[in-house]
Amino acid sequence: MARVLKDFSSSKPESSGGLYDRDLISIKDLSKSQVISILDESESMLKALTSRTKLEHLQYMIMATLFFEPSTRTRLSFESAMQRLGGGVIGFSDANTSSGVKGESLADTVKVVSSYADIIVLRHPKAGSAAEAAEHSDVPVINAGDGASEHPTQALYDLFTIKMQKRKLEGLKVAIVGDLRNARTIHSFAYGVAMFKNSINFIAPDQLQVPDEMLKDLTDKYGIAIEKSDSLNDAKEADVIYIPRMQKERFADPQEYKRFANYYTINKKFLSKANDDIIVMSPLPRLSEISTEIDQMNNSVYFKQAAYAVPVRMAVLKMILSGQK
Ligand code: CP
Repeated sequence: MARVLKDFSSSKPESSGGLYDRDLISIKDLSKSQVISILDESESMLKALTSRTKLEHLQYMIMATLFFEPSTRTRLSFESAMQRLGGGVIGFSDANTSSGVKGESLADTVKVVSSYADIIVLRHPKAGSAAEAAEHSDVPVINAGDGASEHPTQALYDLFTIKMQKRKLEGLKVAIVGDLRNARTIHSFAYGVAMFKNSINFIAPDQLQVPDEMLKDLTDKYGIAIEKSDSLNDAKEADVIYIPRMQKERFADPQEYKRFANYYTINKKFLSKANDDIIVMSPLPRLSEISTEIDQMNNSVYFKQAAYAVPVRMAVLKMILSGQK
């Protein structure tokens, strides 16, 4: 049974709203009040980083990063976050250097590593792998991306970016554009957006639209206004536009990828027609979907968004590992 279903808080005082010693597999594991607590704590972490305050909340603790898929932001920002809190880091960034190549199962890998570390951060190409890992781990597991399924801490710093830029989280028009079938960031972000009662316009060609069951779930659970479209023009009135790259590695048919690789581009021409205050967000890495010509514009917040990964992941690690806010 995954630890996310267990309550480990009885043995230790905790002020982190039920996050102590918990797995984080899906954004749906978190209540709205837990998300608000994480975002508040992220703001404190950001202040500490900005003022160069030395933090030692996780001294003597170790985080293991097990990355079976490539990453720049997620692994390095988790490692930075842990070290900023005084903790240590072990792990691998190339699965070919792990004993997985000798045929060791994910279950055995996680079981063993959980005896070396206090928390495991896992990225894996298979949807459901983080939940599987949590079943075999003796320490909390954070899902850092499992196939096309989810990337919950990405959604947390996406929400943090919206809060910092818009000074509110509710009542916004959010357009989510591009490869909505395959981008795991979307499958977490949309739930975070819905939790705060924002409207969502999912903009994608039919073949790459969000799965029907997700649309139904969002509508049933949150009752928010949801639209579907395939035209970028329909994002002009949005307060937030969020566009991940086309997920080349998840297309079974290379010809299909080629057909959609350059389907949408956010550029100066689009922004000249859009709401003046629209913010352009992306989980990065960026390919052709965001033109470099807009990088210096105030609307473009994707690099700031990437930087917020550190304070938000500090908050998550601190709350799960110490039980404190
Ligand atoms: N946003 C994100 O997950 O980036 P990486 O793949 O570089 O970790």
